[in-house]
Amino acid sequence: MADRNTLRTSAGAPWPNNQDSLTAGERGPLLLQDYQLIEKLAHQNRERIPERTVHAKGWGAHGKLVITEDISKYTKAKCLQKGVETPMLARFSTVAGEQGAADHERDVRGFALKFYTEDGNWDMVGNNTPVFFVRDPYKFPDFIHTQKRHPKTNMRSPTAMFDFWSLSPEALHQVTILMSDRGLPQSPMHMNGYGSHTYSLWTDAGERYWVKFHYKTQQGHDFFTNDEAEQIIGKTREGYQERLFNAIEDGQYPRWKFQIQVMAETDAETCDFNPFDLTKVWPHDQFPMIDVGYFELNRNPDNYFAEIENAAFSPSNIVPGISFSPDRMLQARVFSYADAHRYRLGTHYETIPVNRPVMEVHNYHKDGTMNVFGGVRTGNENAYYEPNSYGDQGAALEDRSAQEPPLKISGDAARYDHTRYDDYAQVRALVTKVMNEEQRQRLYKNMGGAMAGIPSEIAERWFGHLKQVDPAYEAGVRAAWNDANASAEYQANSHPVTGNTPQQTEGNAAG
Ligand code: NDP
Ligand code: HEM
Repeated sequence: MADRNTLRTSAGAPWPNNQDSLTAGERGPLLLQDYQLIEKLAHQNRERIPERTVHAKGWGAHGKLVITEDISKYTKAKCLQKGVETPMLARFSTVAGEQGAADHERDVRGFALKFYTEDGNWDMVGNNTPVFFVRDPYKFPDFIHTQKRHPKTNMRSPTAMFDFWSLSPEALHQVTILMSDRGLPQSPMHMNGYGSHTYSLWTDAGERYWVKFHYKTQQGHDFFTNDEAEQIIGKTREGYQERLFNAIEDGQYPRWKFQIQVMAETDAETCDFNPFDLTKVWPHDQFPMIDVGYFELNRNPDNYFAEIENAAFSPSNIVPGISFSPDRMLQARVFSYADAHRYRLGTHYETIPVNRPVMEVHNYHKDGTMNVFGGVRTGNENAYYEPNSYGDQGAALEDRSAQEPPLKISGDAARYDHTRYDDYAQVRALVTKVMNEEQRQRLYKNMGGAMAGIPSEIAERWFGHLKQVDPAYEAGVRAAWNDANASAEYQANSHPVTGNTPQQTEGNAAG
């Protein structure tokens, strides 16, 4: 019996009995000194950490990024050089639902990738859509409030969603994609990922290129209708987890083709749209796709909590050769995610194994919760401040080769009105040129259904925007809205005051 695993307390003492409490007499009450029981109950009370404020429900797996093409003229990033393979983690998610939400709800899907490169972690925290609902970060918290529960009813509110959207026409593009087939993929494997923002690539020669990242599903764009999804949710709330987990267990490793669009730095000034506006795509004919490689997911986590719930993705995690752009939404995110992780996971969340870079990290951060660095973090025990005299004795030193080229910016510091741009042209291209008639009909039905019960003044404001995209779009959604309002199912479930119905798959939508 020498090699048996002894049950122990967290402090290492052998645990004599994990079945019977220590009591005063056979029929008597507990003794407070049963510290093993207290430890057990106390641990249970601390098993949950705050769920992510958005993107709480997620599914993830490990894999590899493989670069098959030479894009060295655009970037010095070591992980983007031809032939390089980089281990990675992916976490997909819905946005609005809480941790227990059903997987097959209509919503934008998060598409977060962490690449463990030899220059540190590069996180690409994108969505399954190439654009977003808002273009100024001031609007993000309010937007999310409209997607979460109403403070009084504790129900989601289509009225709040369409009130906000109809007063924020920059949301039209993303709402259109959300209400299209792409708003309800069959599984995480059946959707594309997009970096969405414009980022930049840079070279040792000091050149900067603007770039969009695209990850194209190799499994196809299979989707469900709302009716199909309702049937599935009636049977399982974990449909995505089942599909992804089982595919990987069965050796059917999903793949995504990795492509980029590239713009020369100075071309941004002459572009006929703002290339740093997150509500816009770069048209393919002007900025063709360039193949880079692929990624594959091939290993399920051994422990969901440790490897997926504890995963901390942040757009601030970039590596030499990759950087940001003037997109103000991106700057807000560069702050927001690391801040969220320090709150959700703890100060030194990057020492949690799933977030830990592949190399030993030396820096001057000190103490704080979760200081489990081990050894001397700065590389020399006397060098606990900087500047110091211990550089040639192992103390951590700066690496100036990691310095990116200067970012050219200009203009007066002011609060520029962000509402003065065309919010219709790219939506028109999508609805009238990219979608076929069947796809348009499903779009109308999904959107009209999501609007069921909202006040008519809000609906009319929204219809006004749709009409500017295309009169047929407005007419189609209006007809579907009338049908939804008149439907027996809606009438039976709605409340005369709140307008809410329990038809969650019709209208959950966030970003
Ligand atoms: P293209 O015709 O070259 O591109 C259209 C792209 O739309 C396709 O390549 C595909 O992108 C995507 N797409 C196809 N079907 C759907 C659908 N049902 N719902 C959402 N997206 C779909 O023209 P443009 O590049 O000029 O873009 C026209 C419009 O297409 C844009 O205004 C935008 O709404 C949409 N779009 C454009 C993308 C881009 O990066 N240029 C990306 C995605 C959508 P993919 O290969 O990424 O699946
Ligand atoms: C998660 C903020 C826009 C994609 C989060 C989280 C926050 C946040 C605080 C939770 C992080 C955590 O607790 O782990 C913001 C802000 C935004 C913004 C302030 C705009 C100003 C976007 C955009 C995208 C996006 C534009 C996609 C292009 C994601 C994804 C996650 C996430 C994928 C989940 C990451 C994971 O799997 O852990 N966001 N977000 N967000 N966000 Fe955003």
